Amino acid sequence: MKIVITGAGGQLGYDLKRVLSPMHEVISWEKAELDVRQEQEVMEKLLSVRPDVVVHAAAYTHVDRAESEKESAYQVNALGALHLAQACEIVGAKLVYVSTDYVFDGTKRSPYKETDVPNPLNSYGQSKLLGEKFVAMTCMKHFIVRTSWLYGQKGTNFVTKVLEKARENLTLSIVDDQFGSPTYCLDLAIFIRELIETDRYGLYHASNQGVCSRYEFALHILQAAGMAHISLQPVPTHAFPPAPAARPMYTAFAHKAMQSNGFEPMRDWRSALDFFLQVDYYDTAVRAKKVIDTW
Ligand SMILES: NC(=O)c1ccc[n+]([C@@H]2O[C@H](COP(=O)([O-])OP(=O)(O)OC[C@H]3O[C@@H](n4cnc5c(N)ncnc54)[C@H](OP(=O)(O)O)[C@@H]3O)[C@@H](O)[C@H]2O)c1
Repeated sequence: MKIVITGAGGQLGYDLKRVLSPMHEVISWEKAELDVRQEQEVMEKLLSVRPDVVVHAAAYTHVDRAESEKESAYQVNALGALHLAQACEIVGAKLVYVSTDYVFDGTKRSPYKETDVPNPLNSYGQSKLLGEKFVAMTCMKHFIVRTSWLYGQKGTNFVTKVLEKARENLTLSIVDDQFGSPTYCLDLAIFIRELIETDRYGLYHASNQGVCSRYEFALHILQAAGMAHISLQPVPTHAFPPAPAARPMYTAFAHKAMQSNGFEPMRDWRSALDFFLQVDYYDTAVRAKKVIDTW
C-alpha cells in the first residue's frame, strides 16, 4: 500500500516509519513538509500522491500550553484532522486518526471502554475529541485509535525523563494517585499496521495491557534500567503546585473493539517496557531493525 504518515517527526511518527517502511511504500511528512492547518495544501498534496492510507500522527501535544493557546490546539488537532478527513474522503483513502485517553475525565475506576462517554478536562483533550468528531463525520473509511501514556525511542517522554533524573542521581517524587496504561510506540505502530490492512473501521482503545500508577511506572523503569538504587518517593498529586491543565486521575483502557474485531491484544506494559529498555532504547537502529523485521 501507499501510506502517508503526518507528524513523521514526532515520537509515534518515528516508529510508524520503522514499522511500515519494510512492507509498504511510505511517504512521511514532517511539519515542515505538510502543515495540517493548511486546508488547501493538505488537499493538493493528497490529491497529488493519492495514498491508500493516511496515518495522521501530527498533533499539538503541549497539554499545559494548550490552556493558554486554545486556538493553536484547535487549529492543529481539530481542524487539521478535518482537513485530512476531507482529503481522504475525496481520494478514497483510509484514515487513521490517533487520539488520546485525555478525552475522558478520569472519574471512572475501571478501564474505559470505547462506549464510555468522553468528558475532557482540558483544552488539549477537547481539541482531540473535536478532531475525532470531524473525522467520524467526514471520512467513511476511518479508524480512530485512542492511546495513552506513549513512550518510544524518539523524543522526550515519561520514561526518558525518569532516566534523565535518575542519571543525575536526584531523588524522584512521583505521583501515586494517577493511573493509566503505558504504551510503547513501537507496539502501537504494529497494531496500526495490522489495522490498516483491514476494513474494520471505527473507534479503538489501543494501549499495552494492564494499568499502573505513575509511581509504579517509574519504579519499573528504574528496575528495568538497572537503577533500582535511585530513591523514589510516592506523593499525591496535590503535593505539587497545580499544573495549568487538569489531568484525569484514571484513564486505563479496556480493549473491547480490538477483541471483538479479532486483533491480538498488545503485550503487558511491563514486558513492553523491558523490551524497550533492553533492546530499543540503547540502540542502535540496526539491532532494533532486526527485531522489527522478525515480527
Ligand atoms: N505522547 C503521549 O503520551 C500521547 C498520549 C495519548 C495520545 N497521544 C497522541 O498520539 C499522537 C502522537 O503523539 P506523539 O507523542 O508522537 O506526539 P509528538 O511527539 O509531539 O509528535 C507530534 C508531531 O506533530 C507535529 N506537528 C505539530 N503541529 C503540526 C502541524 N500543524 N502540522 C503538521 N505536523 C505538526 C509536531 O511537530 P513539532 O514538534 O515541530 O511541533 C510533532 O513532530 C498524537 O495524536 C497525540 O495526541 C499521545
